[in-house]
Amino acid sequence: MSADHEIDNLLQENRHFAPSAEFSAQAIAQPGIYETAKADRLGFWANQANQLHWHKPFTQTLDWSNAPFAKWFYDGEINISYNCLDRHVEAGNGDRVALFFEGEPGDTREITYAELTAEVKKAANVLTDLGVRAGDRVAIYMPMIPEAIVAMQAVARIGAVHSVIFGGFSAESLHTRIDDAQAKLVITADGGYRKGKASALKPAVDEALSGGKCPSVKNVLVVKRTGQDVGWVDGRDIDWNSALANAATEHVAQGFNAEHPLFILYTSGTTGKPKGVLHTTGGYLTQAAYTHKNVFDLHAETDIYWCTADIGWITGHSYVAYGPLANGASQVIYEGTPETPDWGRWWSIAEKYKVSILYTAPTAIRSFMKLGSQIPKQYDLSHIRVLGSVGEPINPEAWMWYRNIIGAGSAPIVDTWWQTETGAIMISPLPGITTLKPGSAQHALPGIEIAILDEDGNELGNGHAGLLTITEPWPAMLRGIWGDPDRFKETYWSKFEGIYFAGDGAKFDEEGDLWLLGRVDDVMNVSGHRLSTAEIESALVSHPFVAEAAVVGANDETTGQAVVAFVILRQNQLANAGSDADVSKMLRDHVTKEIGPIARPRTIMVVSELPKTRSGKIMRRLLRDVAEDRPVGDVTTLADTSVMDIISGKIAGGASD
Ligand code: WTA
Repeated sequence: MSADHEIDNLLQENRHFAPSAEFSAQAIAQPGIYETAKADRLGFWANQANQLHWHKPFTQTLDWSNAPFAKWFYDGEINISYNCLDRHVEAGNGDRVALFFEGEPGDTREITYAELTAEVKKAANVLTDLGVRAGDRVAIYMPMIPEAIVAMQAVARIGAVHSVIFGGFSAESLHTRIDDAQAKLVITADGGYRKGKASALKPAVDEALSGGKCPSVKNVLVVKRTGQDVGWVDGRDIDWNSALANAATEHVAQGFNAEHPLFILYTSGTTGKPKGVLHTTGGYLTQAAYTHKNVFDLHAETDIYWCTADIGWITGHSYVAYGPLANGASQVIYEGTPETPDWGRWWSIAEKYKVSILYTAPTAIRSFMKLGSQIPKQYDLSHIRVLGSVGEPINPEAWMWYRNIIGAGSAPIVDTWWQTETGAIMISPLPGITTLKPGSAQHALPGIEIAILDEDGNELGNGHAGLLTITEPWPAMLRGIWGDPDRFKETYWSKFEGIYFAGDGAKFDEEGDLWLLGRVDDVMNVSGHRLSTAEIESALVSHPFVAEAAVVGANDETTGQAVVAFVILRQNQLANAGSDADVSKMLRDHVTKEIGPIARPRTIMVVSELPKTRSGKIMRRLLRDVAEDRPVGDVTTLADTSVMDIISGKIAGGASD
């Protein structure tokens, strides 16, 4: 298969970049860290946890007796917001800038740790006044503005549980997520700036709650960001600014049990229903802070850190809202899109704030690479000293471009593998220690144990592709799926007894460096966003014209994968459907409405048959061949072998969108 062929080419990568002596000398991660963690893994994690402030110290590190439901540091009490805020102010660092905010229109704000602490205290009091209590769920649907971080921190501070929903999700997705978590409060904004325009958010909240659809919601707190006109439900909707202005200013953070729930984050799985991944407090913060400091070599007094992820994703949780603040970092947050007003925007931000650590996704790097080096070269990027990548495999070509053009040919690149479920980085080089190899995520971090297994659970040696697993519990691991303990066990722990199955293929090369080979299940990765084929298929078949749908992720030069859908129309609707192009547009709009613009298929192909095995399972592998414009592979297990000829013939005839 061509995918394997590509991977073999990658595995021949023989460029190595050893760390400079100068970098190593100042690095946070010091040689010996791997050995220390290996010798006493739990002791190592207890030491990391003890870097945080505990309201009540823990004496027990891990209870795995009720596996796969782990308890870390479980007799300790901690307040995550105290650790991210008050602690730094009390240590005399209140004047350090926590957030350099850059709005898309060019407005800016600098918020110190003292100011951020004061805001979060007021917001915590507002939430308490609204009747939000420890354990209650709060949905957050906001643009990338400082108030989003204030909201997350305030919810966590009072022991409530946030569920952040990415602004690119539709009212329908918002509704199912709010309802599943039974959220009591929604925090949103009138809108945010994207692509040079005010883009509304509040109307989606109004629609999600309309007609009493989400009876759990008592109030909606609304930040005014764009000033655009929005609907207002008296008695339910509350203006954020006036609520904070009237709130009491003091708020004493109380300790919560280390296993107290912190947040739910919905992510795509292999079924049509998104999973509410649940994280708890002490272990999550321990690993988020430890990885943020060691993987990015964070020197909090001097570095300016910028992670481009939105708070709607796990990266925006662990490496914007929590890890950096726990470490007292100064970070940049940017509201808008990279091309506004032009493709130099990110580099102008990096220059302006003297960004020294940049963490982004391969899809962005490939987009910049396509446009050429002359754009970033117009800016002074000389402060950049560490580069990070996340979300999908970074191909060696993009890796080299990133290092040479953005990192002046010398910045170490950390290719970080992890998942919403793992909560924090699991596999990555450590700058200053690891000799880098372009395209490889290289090694499990100290404290993390992984194995690559075959289908029967046998460990594979170097050079053999298999399934990536995590063999020992880790502090930031998910504690379950909201409301569905069986699905939690079934999805992650049933394939191999007592071992976490990640859903990714992987391989150690002959030198023992790890290569990620993409998902082995029906999860796609489009621009680093996780989408489920089943979820998009069920959106498509919810349209009255569609009888059947099959969705595949086809390779795409820029976005990694792209959504390609094959649909069969209902016989009785054929006359109304119009041309294939009309149908395609209508169905793409329909998916946008049902899930959100991030799930909009790139291509929809109207077909009369779908390739199925005799047991009725759709053979996505063959559809992927068609979508990627390759000769169709082995069709012998098809119930009707002529189907692929018909589909390929039709596609060759130019029926795609
Ligand atoms: C993929 C994002 C290769 C992988 C933090 C994983 C990666 C899924 C990498 C999780 C990487 C993430 N190299 N693949 N460095 N990082 N992935 O939950 O398939 O949005 O299972 O978490 O992204 O996506 P999620």
